[in-house]
Order: sequence, then C-alpha cells, then structure tokens
Amino acid sequence: MQVERFSGTGGVTISGLDVRDADEATIAGIRAAVVDHVVAVLPEQGLSPAEQVAFSRRFGGPGEVPFIEPLADHPEVIAVVKEATDGNAPNFGGVWHSDFSFQPAPPSFTFLQAVTVPAVGGDTVWANMKLAYRHLDERHKQIIAGLSAVHSAVGSYSPDRRDLFDRISGMTVDPSADDSDRAVHPLVTRHPESGDEVLFFNRGYVAGIDGWSAADARPLLSRLHHHSTHVRFSIRHRWSANDLVIWDNRSSQHFAMNDYAGQPRRMHRTTCAGSTPDAAG
Ligand code: SIN
Repeated sequence: MQVERFSGTGGVTISGLDVRDADEATIAGIRAAVVDHVVAVLPEQGLSPAEQVAFSRRFGGPGEVPFIEPLADHPEVIAVVKEATDGNAPNFGGVWHSDFSFQPAPPSFTFLQAVTVPAVGGDTVWANMKLAYRHLDERHKQIIAGLSAVHSAVGSYSPDRRDLFDRISGMTVDPSADDSDRAVHPLVTRHPESGDEVLFFNRGYVAGIDGWSAADARPLLSRLHHHSTHVRFSIRHRWSANDLVIWDNRSSQHFAMNDYAGQPRRMHRTTCAGSTPDAAG
C-alpha cells in the first residue's frame, strides 16, 4: 500500500489496496496513518454495507448511534443523504462537530464511504485539533488547562429541530435529545494512541464550560471556535464515488459543505466505539 500526504495540515491518501483483503499488518498500518494524519482517503473501495461493517469492526467495536435510523438490514450503518429534490434544505453534518462528542465515550473513528457524489460541491472539511492546540497562544493554553467543556446533543437533536430534519427527505432522524444526552470532557485531552495533546472542542456540541456561567463562557468558546476552524488547520477532501474516508474523531472536528443544491449526495457511515477522553495534564 502507498501512503501519500495530500495536504500540509494532515490527510493522507492510501492506495494500492483493496481493504477487503487487508491483513492484520495492513490494518495496523492504516490505523497508524489515521492516528498520525487525522484523515485517510482510500479511493476506489466501493464496499457494500456489510463489507463496510466488517472493515470498521477491525478497528474496534461499533459505536452507538442515537437519533438516526440506520439502514434496514444494517443497524451499524447510517446513510447520510441529501436528495436533489431537497434543494436548499440544510444538510446533515453542516456544522462544525466531532461525531457524537456528547457521549461519555465518543466514537474513535468514523468511516464514510461515498455512494453518490455531486458533480461539484459536497466536500468535507476537517480541522486538525492537534495542530489547533499546538498553535493556540500561551495565554489561552493557560486559561483552558484544567477546564472541561459540557457537550450536549440538545442544540442539534432536541424535538424543536424536527422541522429541520423533515427537510432532509432521504434520512429518518428522531430529534428527541434531552438534558441526559450530555457529557463533560476535558478541553485539552491526551490522545489515547499517539499521546498528543488535543484541543477537544467543537462548536456543534459544546454547550458550555463546566462550572462557568453561559455569559462567562461565551467569549472563550467563540475564541476557541474561530481559532480552531481557521483555514491553516483545515484538511479538505473532494469526494469521488467509492472513496472510503476514515477520520479520527479524537483529534478532529469536521464540516460537510452544503453547496450542491439540486444534486444528490449519498454516503454510508459507520463508527467505532471510543473511550472516555482523558485530560492531558
Ligand atoms: C458527518 O458529519 O458525519 C457527515 C460528513 C459528510 O457527510 O461529509
């Protein structure tokens, strides 16, 4: 297999293999590349849902998927879909987020395979949160050392979001989050595999700073958002059908572009269960 970097901020293309035939050494190599470079693109895979589940499971047990109805015969797979007829409707994943970070043990890896892609648009963009932490100014590093963020599903999946999800006709989402769908995680985490320090933050699910008032937290959260999503930490992929992309949720957040109104986009997504994030300190 060949591993080639495609951007200076992270992201590798892994080619020359069919993941269905990957032996243990190859899986270990893919895993190491994702942990190191945050995002790996494996072109021309074209896995069936069953094959995607089997491949994902080689990286760990399945992650729990709340709110979103999975494929009928494949409970570990969700289809991330926007139909051509959905026009200017919002898209799934069109805010900066790290998958299900409101869970006590958020998913480690996400596997997203492109089934149908727009001729133009529909890219995914990631922020490398190892880099974002490394380049945070010392004053903010000191402020956030020892702080924890409250991650909540309420802003994205509470019942008052039903109208929004009803406009995404190709997905069935049951927005039923309540205050129990939350977790408190350190803002600076130690990556469990690489040992790197990470700014574990995303605007989509972080609802506050533990122990701080909303008013006190707002400027800090805004600063962390603007810093971490700056283009100098971003990795962007333009999809082709049958691309399989793997990313590390423990060191990234991501954003799905919604710039392809009138064209269909369909992806299949699986996740691996992760562990409770540990503080770096
Ligand atoms: C997601 O946020 O899980 C989906 C990302 C995408 O569709 O590009």
